[in-house]
Amino acid sequence: MQDRKLKAICSLHDLRHASYLTRQISLKGQACSALVFLFEGKPYSYVNHCMHMQRPLDCEQDAIFDGTGKFLRCSMHGFIFDPTTGECQSPVCLGQRLQALRLQEIDGMVFFAEKHLALLV
Ligand code: FES
Repeated sequence: MQDRKLKAICSLHDLRHASYLTRQISLKGQACSALVFLFEGKPYSYVNHCMHMQRPLDCEQDAIFDGTGKFLRCSMHGFIFDPTTGECQSPVCLGQRLQALRLQEIDGMVFFAEKHLALLV
């Protein structure tokens, strides 16, 4: 029987063919957007809110990585984040982190594994 807290997002195949995906979610009753992406072959997900001004990282551009592909980059003011931890590398928010969302892979599918998360349409 499938764990009830698992919510299917997409296949790993889908993630390999997209630079990132977004999903509308409810987290502890709050509607928000989640980013899902592969980095060095591993899937990651964060709430799509930059801690600088609470804007979605892709609010100005349809992209979440900087030119090097090594850092997440907020398109509003260019703050960058470690994709593996969500930790901000830019001086104003140095050390603050994007809110990570737990994922689980099962048989090539990627799931949210957060108890208080629901997928919205
Ligand atoms: S809102 Fe993200 S860097 Fe300013």
